[in-house]
Amino acid sequence: MSAAAVQDIQSIQVTPLSAHIGAEIHGVDLTQKLDARQIAEIRAALLKWRVVFFREQFLTHEQHVAFSAQFGELTLGHPVFGHVDGYPEVYSISKYRKATRFEGQTLQRPWTGWHTDVTAALNPPWASILRGVTIPPYGGDTQWTNLVAAYQKLSAPLRGFVDGLRGLHRFTPPAGASGTEAFNKAVEQRTLVTEHPLVRVHPETGERALYVSPSFLKSIVGVSPRESQVLLELLWEHVTRPEFTVRFKWEAGSVAFWDNRATAHLAPTDIFDLEFDRQLYRTTLVGDVPVGPDGTQSVALEGSPVSAAAAVALN
Ligand code: SIN
Repeated sequence: MSAAAVQDIQSIQVTPLSAHIGAEIHGVDLTQKLDARQIAEIRAALLKWRVVFFREQFLTHEQHVAFSAQFGELTLGHPVFGHVDGYPEVYSISKYRKATRFEGQTLQRPWTGWHTDVTAALNPPWASILRGVTIPPYGGDTQWTNLVAAYQKLSAPLRGFVDGLRGLHRFTPPAGASGTEAFNKAVEQRTLVTEHPLVRVHPETGERALYVSPSFLKSIVGVSPRESQVLLELLWEHVTRPEFTVRFKWEAGSVAFWDNRATAHLAPTDIFDLEFDRQLYRTTLVGDVPVGPDGTQSVALEGSPVSAAAAVALN
């Protein structure tokens, strides 16, 4: 690794992976409690690079939860699909995405396209922390895109136009995906629909992000259906342009930590053309309600906000 490619920000080493997004962090052991300086440095790297990656961190579920809790309050594994038995904060992401609901029932859920986690909720998780356990020898990469860079690269007139728009986010399977009966029932029982600003002001950096979560953003409010469709296609194509993205090759022990206020990501589908298994686990951190450039907040139309796992466990 060349010295120029490595930026030393105090105790950890941060190695950028592309112009706009993604950096690997070395020099920290995530199985141990971090000190205040390490936490501040990881947070700073996350705000700058939007998604940070760690290698060779062989965390147990308990260690995954403990690491995550140093950065915020954890949500339940998934508001619709539940969590790993005995670990309310941990959501299993397996090849066939079996999900265990709170009642212990198992269901099969379809794969999602480009999305930001749980944007159908009023307060989508601000961060997600995904760890790789069983990883195919090839295939199964995940991609992230930088929604702040995407916003900044729109022309000034288009930025001014999208600044005033709002979008409807709904939790439904992506077009063409067929859920099992149990999946459809789970989605019906936990309907989530929220109107978010199309441009979100990042609560920590003040940057504007094109808050476009292709799988969940269904329409633009206040325009005709045709206008909405054409605009969404333009914006989806724009936010997923390769120059705003990074592609991560997983290994067992890899951890990805991303900022959902500034990114969307794409789970792989090439693994279905391969016989290999793939198993990852995810935690998410309770987020705030998005705010647009004019100060207007998101509004929930159906469903309740994402709560902290601790609060749900108390009920
Ligand atoms: C996710 O969408 O959070 C999971 C991404 C992946 O499976 O690579």
